[in-house]
Amino acid sequence: MDCNLAEIRDRAIYASGRESSRRKGFPVTSISTQGYPTGWFALDLSRRIAPGTVRRARLMGEEVIIFRTVSGQLAVSTAYCPHRGAHLGYGGKVQGEELICPFHNFKFASDGACIGGRNSAARITARLNTYPSVENDGMVYCWWHPSEPVPTWNLPKPAILSAAQSAGTGVLNGSAKEIVESFFDDSHYSALHGITLDDIVESPSSDGVRMTAVFAIRDTLPLLRHPLEAKISAYGMGFTSTLLTIPGVDFRAEIRILPTPIGPWDVKLWVTTRAILGSQGSRPPWLLSALGGCGAARFLHWGMWYLMRADRVIWRHKSRYHQPSWATTDVSNKAFHFWSAQFFID
Ligand code: FES
Ligand SMILES: [Fe+2]
Repeated sequence: MDCNLAEIRDRAIYASGRESSRRKGFPVTSISTQGYPTGWFALDLSRRIAPGTVRRARLMGEEVIIFRTVSGQLAVSTAYCPHRGAHLGYGGKVQGEELICPFHNFKFASDGACIGGRNSAARITARLNTYPSVENDGMVYCWWHPSEPVPTWNLPKPAILSAAQSAGTGVLNGSAKEIVESFFDDSHYSALHGITLDDIVESPSSDGVRMTAVFAIRDTLPLLRHPLEAKISAYGMGFTSTLLTIPGVDFRAEIRILPTPIGPWDVKLWVTTRAILGSQGSRPPWLLSALGGCGAARFLHWGMWYLMRADRVIWRHKSRYHQPSWATTDVSNKAFHFWSAQFFID
């Protein structure tokens, strides 16, 4: 049998919604993360959070909200009002620098402090639990770590800024760890995707919270058979960046794949892409010439979702509790396995 009792229990809890109520009130006193990874995780596109906006999101089985005050201050917090538990993503409003709960009109500052009721001097001492948040290359991220309330590391700067960005999202079954690992799993490129791996230019290596590798690949996508070099960087389990270049050609693209766990085996995946095609160097492949930088970004964006069709079948149906039986060729996977352990507390 492929799944065990713990998996059946987790799925039953998630389906019944009890997962949320058990974990409400983050940060928790226990350091159990129920198997979720710690670090930075993408929640939404910055452009969707205009000043005065409140938006809902889901993170580690919890409901959260993202809001921006009129002056532009961004905040991420639990969705539930500390007074009587109203969901602030349904009717909560930003007025000036405050978030107002629709149920009894208590007001909260962007740091979570209650600053009174609208029509009285009423106060509550409980705070709205907030998460550290940052914006990076048009995306809102929040820091999730039950025992480290202050972020201990930062995300990298974008490799390309001066180009239009393609962005999209989708929900899939699987774990963030499986998704990030797939980038370093060199043996699955040809087996599952039919991509030719010409060379491992740099074997996967880690430096603290970052793991990198460089692969020379071709036959990546329909109509794009040209040799490419892919520099892959992962920062924790919520962030990967693939910098694609073509040797000798003035072309660069950055594809960011950002998995955010929303339930025990569900991930909201964000993909953002930017590409630049210059006129220096040798002639680019005809497809990229025809598309230009902006079109190339869109094509690569589509291509990532296209490639992941095969991964999604594997992730959806594979065992969560399988202990790896390492093959002699699993050097990269093994390195990933030991590096990724630092992001899991339990
Ligand atoms: S539940 Fe939010 S103010 Fe009462
Ligand atoms: Fe894959």
